[in-house]
Amino acid sequence: MSAPKLLILATGGTIAGMAGSATRHEYLPGQIGIAEFLGQAETLALNAQMTGKQIANIGSEDMGPVIWAKLHRECMAAMTDPDCDGVIITHGTDTAEETAFLLDLTLPTSKPVVIVGAMRPADAVGYDGLRNFANAVRVACDPAAAGRGVLLVMSDRVHAARDVRKARTRGTEAFQGFPRDSVGLVTPSALEWFGAPWRSDEAARYALTETLPDVPILFIHAGMTPDYVARLLAPKTAGMVVCGVGEGNMPNPVRAELVKLAASGIPIVRASRLDEGLVDREPEDDANGFIAARALTPPKARVLLQMLVASGVTDPASIQSAFDGR
Ligand code: DGL
Repeated sequence: MSAPKLLILATGGTIAGMAGSATRHEYLPGQIGIAEFLGQAETLALNAQMTGKQIANIGSEDMGPVIWAKLHRECMAAMTDPDCDGVIITHGTDTAEETAFLLDLTLPTSKPVVIVGAMRPADAVGYDGLRNFANAVRVACDPAAAGRGVLLVMSDRVHAARDVRKARTRGTEAFQGFPRDSVGLVTPSALEWFGAPWRSDEAARYALTETLPDVPILFIHAGMTPDYVARLLAPKTAGMVVCGVGEGNMPNPVRAELVKLAASGIPIVRASRLDEGLVDREPEDDANGFIAARALTPPKARVLLQMLVASGVTDPASIQSAFDGR
């Protein structure tokens, strides 16, 4: 049997970064091109035929709708290309979870799509990029990786897009998932899934547009005054995510401003600024017209709200069912 065919889409990040020294802390992300990276990966003799495409070469703090649209187009084409068995996206770790979730919402689940990064630049001692990449290849070559949505592979773990977040600024074990910590364990030679695919043969849930609705995030803190809400509003603001304290809470005067916004037709989603921030509906949400983000982090709640508003879904009950889904 011939080796699986993978499309590798490169966007930059630390996995393609260089420090100019094996021990220096400072470095530049997005320095190595995909051809050079795949040249290094060739030394691993992985059992896959790989074609690389450079989509961008940036630090992922600069990731956004234009590059998302390019990635989405490439992935959609790969889904129907008989010469492609799976896609790997190399990505900076800072916003990998947002790209993963956005693609998770906008791609069919018919072939594996795996995002991978590194915490140490390519010339650092203990570079984790090649091991993470070898693991990503192992995952993308497994037909059982399909039907699980977009996956993120870091430090020998496979995470689902909806659950994963970057939790640490240092060290190779930088990602964690909530409520599911991870959905599989992987090494370059072994892959163990925790359970069967849960989204087999699902069509894309949302269409992706290059311009996304304006949905700011309101970060709540002690001593916050209600004028912060107006500071975030722009003429085109189409929704707002509250990065609340505790279980999506906010000071009463801030809540009063948000209730007015919700009444004017701007959906307000309550999320939490905590690491394990499950936010369930509370009885007041009905009267306030608010939506509970459930286990989604504020940046992911923002992405989902953008997809919903862009597809014309703006009533709180329908938005709530999308947040309640998997
Ligand atoms: N600024 C970062 C980025 O591209 C580099 C961090 C990383 O990739 O780990 O997300």
